Amino acid sequence: MTTDEIDQLREDVLAAIDVAAGPDALEAVRVHALGKQGTVTALLKSLGKMTPEERQVQGPRIHGLREAVNAAIGARREKLEAAILADKLASETLDMTLPVDVPTSGTVHPVSQVMDELAEIFADLGFAVATGPEIEDDWHNFTALNIPDTHPARAMHDTFYFPPDDSGEQKMLLRTHTSPVQIRTMVDQKPPIRIIAPGRTYRSDSDATHTPMFHQVEGLVIDKGITLGHLKWTLETFLKAFFERDDIVLRLRPSYFPFTEPSAEVDVGFSIEKGKRVIGGSEGWMEVLGSGMVHPKVIEACGLDPKEWQGFAFGCGIDRLAMLKYGMDDLRAFFDGDLRWLRHYGFSALDVPTLSGGVGA
Ligand code: PHE
Repeated sequence: MTTDEIDQLREDVLAAIDVAAGPDALEAVRVHALGKQGTVTALLKSLGKMTPEERQVQGPRIHGLREAVNAAIGARREKLEAAILADKLASETLDMTLPVDVPTSGTVHPVSQVMDELAEIFADLGFAVATGPEIEDDWHNFTALNIPDTHPARAMHDTFYFPPDDSGEQKMLLRTHTSPVQIRTMVDQKPPIRIIAPGRTYRSDSDATHTPMFHQVEGLVIDKGITLGHLKWTLETFLKAFFERDDIVLRLRPSYFPFTEPSAEVDVGFSIEKGKRVIGGSEGWMEVLGSGMVHPKVIEACGLDPKEWQGFAFGCGIDRLAMLKYGMDDLRAFFDGDLRWLRHYGFSALDVPTLSGGVGA
């Protein structure tokens, strides 16, 4: 092969490499030049038949050609692979800011939503969430809460009792309020204590505003030097955050609970807007919760010294809170499991309540 022919071959092969559109085309060019029967391979083989003088001239040219072809193939391959990767990255991009396709069925029940909102609000105030069993014993539900056997409050609670155990002594019951969680927490944990305890409670009662199973949230703070002022501030802060309004007005009415002294029932002011009651202002009053300073006898029953530790507690109906905030007027519909109701009043599972985004967002 003459020098011109070698130069021509180099030009042809390099041009073919340059236009190879993909890895397969490039491989075909490589085989055509450098494969067993390849054009460049044939040249390399021809070196063996040359005289030493010829080889001295042609050798470097032919080896140079092979190296140039190899280098060009390597460079082209890198380019093609980079283009394929760029294409893949562009087509497989996930836009994390796009909303997910939310399924049409399945919603968060307003009671669960409100419980999440409560946990969020109280977590911000330094409260942990505590729990206790729904099947309780007499001591935690009544006795330790300063409601002895003969106390009339027992009758007021419309308690569901289980049949007595074999010895005929222990009568278990469905807890009538979340207050037994106060007892369990004080027995188990060292003060200072700041907890809320949301959960199911049971009383034999049923009408438009009462169901045999309902939900309460208990609040308990035990520390040194706790006063009624701390209670009022905490409730005010909580209700303002919960109803997402600053014009929340509270009214504390003297009341009686065996486990608090003094006790106060808390009313929240409402106004009438377009014929509907709306929380805020003070055109009328609605009772929302019971509260008070934890009775020294209760603190003592849990093994703490009431001279050292004081605190406040409150109990609040969650279903009621949900009705007031989200405008439902029949409590019984909460527990019917009617899909139309759930779709209408339920919340998206992806709307997690946060204080910054608005707990009811
Ligand atoms: N446990 C009371 C009830 O169910 C509410 C309450 C809780 C009152 C804590 C005072 C303190 O009515």
